[in-house]
Amino acid sequence: MAYYYRLGDIPPKRHTQFRQPDGSLYKEELVSSHGFSGIYSNLYHIHNPNTVKSIGEPKPYKWEIAKDYGLKQTHLNTSKLETTGDDYLEARRVLLMNNDVNMAICIPKQRKMDYYYKNADGDEVVFVHDGNGYMYSQFGKLRVRKGDYIVIPRTTIYRFEWEEGPLRLLIMESLGPIETVKRYRNELGQLLEHSPYCERDIRPPGELVREEAKGSYLVQIKKQGYLHQYEYAHSPMDLVGWDGFLYPYALSIHDFEPITGRIHQPPPVHQTFQAWGFVICSFVPRLFDYHPQAIPAPYNHSNIDSDEVLYYVEGNFMSRKGIDRGSFTLHMGGLPHGPHPGTVEKSIGAKETEELAVMLDTFRPLHLTTDALAFVDDKYPMSWTE
Ligand SMILES: [Fe+2]
Repeated sequence: MAYYYRLGDIPPKRHTQFRQPDGSLYKEELVSSHGFSGIYSNLYHIHNPNTVKSIGEPKPYKWEIAKDYGLKQTHLNTSKLETTGDDYLEARRVLLMNNDVNMAICIPKQRKMDYYYKNADGDEVVFVHDGNGYMYSQFGKLRVRKGDYIVIPRTTIYRFEWEEGPLRLLIMESLGPIETVKRYRNELGQLLEHSPYCERDIRPPGELVREEAKGSYLVQIKKQGYLHQYEYAHSPMDLVGWDGFLYPYALSIHDFEPITGRIHQPPPVHQTFQAWGFVICSFVPRLFDYHPQAIPAPYNHSNIDSDEVLYYVEGNFMSRKGIDRGSFTLHMGGLPHGPHPGTVEKSIGAKETEELAVMLDTFRPLHLTTDALAFVDDKYPMSWTE
């Protein structure tokens, strides 16, 4: 959810005759959320979006929860990974999950997808840790760059084309819609003056790209633990125009303006998105607390009813030892966590930080998947003991 936007040609009034140069009607498609009560967009296709040529065998696509992992502060170190698979879907390796959200690392070898993908289960946020490229969808062509959060509403049909060079994606899949933070919005949805980012920072697709040739277009549809194989006679990218509030967009973590204070500010000041059962926050380069007696390192924290995940993007993580670029830490509810020994004193007098990290806090327990076990740092639970 962002703001009203339109691209291409649309009729002056919805649900009225809108004709192609040959006199035939454009095919209108309403893409709506929460039945008819949520945000929506109206899409105008050249061809009927239902022209299925064939339906292939569904491919299982699910992850298993690691049993009996226990209550442990956890460090998953994925920093050494060079690839996690050949293609975008195969390379998705979900490491943490619950019924509201899952988090995956994805480093595909193939830079171009030769099919389209649609997530019919939930919204996705793709954080581009490394990489530059384009996302193509019905809604148009979107330039995506290192540091972008790409917010992709469910049912968006898309594919990526990445440029050569390092590529590393952090993918969060959400059962509920990904939204801007409610307390930063006025009653009409506009982002307020105290919001760390505003509409100018939200980048929707810039231009429509049309594939008009008849042929064979595979759309892999993720739904209920399977990738359903749908072959269509026309490209999903056959729009002449669309308008509405529902569309994919990019927001760079570098456009998130940090909120700082005289004493340590709590994690909600870093909140970037909200969804059902979790929040996403951005830790960005910022000035440290400026009270003369301030302690810039965070205090110990007992998160009694949430699980906290930090994904370390860049910089020197002052309060943690043994953490690499590409590390995940999971601080489970029920145990206190805090700075590593020695880091509190060391932080005093520090003026600023260059750290960059993505945090995901859930309100229901997260589970490690069996795939995550290969990355567990066994020493981490004892790493506060001197
Ligand atoms: Fe915490």
